[in-house]
This record gives sequence, structure tokens and C-alpha cells, in this order.
Amino acid sequence: MFVTKIQISSFRNIAGAEIAFDRRFNVLHGANGQGKTSVLEAIYLLGTMKSFRMARTHDLITWNTPYSVVRGWAEKDRVGREIALYLGREGRKARVDQKPVTRLADFFGNVNAVVFSPEEIAMARSGPDLRRRYLDRAIFSGDLGYLLLYHEYHRLLKQRNALLKRGDRAGLEVWTEQLAEAGSRLMTKRMAYLAAVEPLVRHFYREIAGEGEEAGLAYHPLSLRPEEVVRDGMEALLRLFAGHAEEELRRGTTVVGPQRDDVDFVLNGRVIRNHGSQGQQRSFVLALKMAEIEYLERIHGAPPVLLLDDISSELDRQRNANLMAFLRGKTMQVFITTTDITTLRLEGIATHASFHVSRGTVTPS
Ligand SMILES: Nc1ncnc2c1ncn2[C@@H]1O[C@H](COP(=O)(O)OP(=O)(O)O)[C@@H](O)[C@H]1O
Ligand SMILES: [Mg+2]
Repeated sequence: MFVTKIQISSFRNIAGAEIAFDRRFNVLHGANGQGKTSVLEAIYLLGTMKSFRMARTHDLITWNTPYSVVRGWAEKDRVGREIALYLGREGRKARVDQKPVTRLADFFGNVNAVVFSPEEIAMARSGPDLRRRYLDRAIFSGDLGYLLLYHEYHRLLKQRNALLKRGDRAGLEVWTEQLAEAGSRLMTKRMAYLAAVEPLVRHFYREIAGEGEEAGLAYHPLSLRPEEVVRDGMEALLRLFAGHAEEELRRGTTVVGPQRDDVDFVLNGRVIRNHGSQGQQRSFVLALKMAEIEYLERIHGAPPVLLLDDISSELDRQRNANLMAFLRGKTMQVFITTTDITTLRLEGIATHASFHVSRGTVTPS
């Protein structure tokens, strides 16, 4: 999968840019605040319609302009596609090959992207929200059904919360059952994903950090044991909701369920959020990303594109070399941003394109 070209207009600080990319390595360099990450953000939008910076649509539109357009040309299995995204104050619209997108399935999967950035590293030491978000996004990229299920769960959750807020006990039961049913399917998919990538994370962690430490991913549903989910997730959730019934009515909202799940990043049986060094946390997230790439490659038959945002500051020489060795072994398209092109160590990487980004203008360099 490759993004061969992108056209950006009125997006963040980029008034207009047209960039033809290399099929292997693309380096975007320039000082801080010039628009490098915005280019990566635009590429990511082509795959997900969302920002990886947790921005809302109106944050993306250039200030004092009515809308943004991001248009990309992607190639997958030698088939080219043109993806156009319109971001307006009233919402987003997408076209693929000039045809309006009416079903998510027509949009997703044209560009799969994995991001590795300092913000991603933060998830190793943050609260559960960032890890859950990572998990959900990682699963969507390989399974559109998960995205639909996720939306369904959150729609039911909203309905149930409205009832709780009104104190409507009579109507509650039906919604609780439906929520538990969708929730158990969601939890099952999360567990299956984690089971599939855990051996990959373990393998890559060993490659990055050397022998001696065993990396693991432990699914951590709130107030439930994973075994209960395996046995009968719906029953387990129904018991959990029943146990919190009075609290939920008092607070007017759902307080338990998979919207509160966490996943523990574990080294030698210890959760690294509390015990890991910064170096271990960085290596862990890097291993997690490599595992995600490997997994997506197996599912789709081709690797995703990789967006490396400002990582030279995060990775020491050894980790950087390990990452480069991994990238050399794949025919994967990579986009790298850096403030200092001289510190970028692209050892053994022959073909690449580089671009200078300054005040929202992108020029080949
Ligand atoms: N909606 C927007 N309209 C105009 N400028 C924006 C908008 N959002 C962010 N910016 C500006 O865009 C600039 C580029 O940001 P960014 O892509 O993060 O730069 P870099 O990655 O090169 O450090 C920043 O200076 C920021 O203030
Ligand atoms: Mg940046």
C-alpha cells in the first residue's frame, strides 16, 4: 500500500500543497511549528477520516477559512484509488474515485496507517484512555466489523445513559441486555486481538531490548476477570451492571463496561506504567507498533504506511538502528518528520525523497 501523491488545501497552516511521494522513504524536515506533522495528519485522514492528534474537524480547517480539502492517490494491490476528503464546519464528506462514500466499507481500507510519535509513547505511562484508544484503532484497521460494533455499543450506551439520567427504571432492562450483548462481543474481539499480537510484541521487544525481559499484554476489563469474559461475557457484564444498578441510577450514567477497559503493558510480569523506566516504555511502544505493522501485513497481505513523527528525539542510537533494520526488511512506505535532518540515521536506505517544510509550504529538497 502506497500513497503516491497528496493535495492539501486550507488544512492547518497549509494553504496549499501538492506532494509526490517516494514509494519507500519520505523525510519531512523543518523547524518546529512549520507544518510537518500536519502533512502526516493529512495522510492519516485519508485512511481513517480522523486525526491522530485527537483534533476535531474544526481544529483542522485553516483559521478563517470555510473548509479544507485533502485529496490523496493511493495504490493497493496495484489498483489506484483517488480519495477526496472535504472537511467543513458542518461535517466531513468523502469521495473515492469521485463517487460519494455512503458506506464505511467503501472508505476504510484504502489507506492503512500506523503512527509512532512521542504522544504514542506517552500511553505507556498514562491512564487507561490512551491505551484503550490505541487498542480500538489497532483493531479497526484490520477489522471493519469492529468499527461497526464499536459504534453500535456507543449508541446503546448513549441511550442507556439517557434513561439512567431520567431515572427510567422500567425501560432500563432492555437496554442493559442489549448493551451487555454488544459489550461482550466487543470484549471478545479485544481479547482476540491482544492474544494475536502479544507474541509479536514479545518477539519485537526482545529484538529491541535484547534477551532477558519478557513483554506481555494483559487485557484488563474494569471490575471483571478476563476468565469471566471468556466463559460468558454477556452474563459477566449483566452481573456487573446489576451490582452497580443503584449507583448508576444515582449518578445518572453507566459506570462499568468495556468503555472503561484497560490493557496493561507488562514486562516480566510487572505493569510498566508503574515500574518501567522511560527506556523500557519507549521500547515497549516501539515493539507494539512493529507488532501492529506485522499483524496488518498478515491480514491485508501488504504492510500499512508508517508515519514516524519526531521520533529521533525519543530513540537512542541503538533503538533507532533496530527500527531502521526492521524497516529495511519491509517494502513499506514510511513518512518521517524531523527538525534536524543531520541526526536522522537512514543507514542502508537507498531511495528516498525529502521535503523542506516552512510556514506551511512544502518544497522538495
Ligand atoms: N487550524 C489551523 N489553522 C492555521 N494554523 C494552524 C491550525 N492548527 C494549527 N496551526 C498551526 O500550524 C502550525 C504547524 O503545526 P505542525 O504541523 O504541528 O508543525 P510541526 O510538526 O512542523 O512542528 C503550528 O504553528 C500551528 O500553530
Ligand atoms: Mg510536529
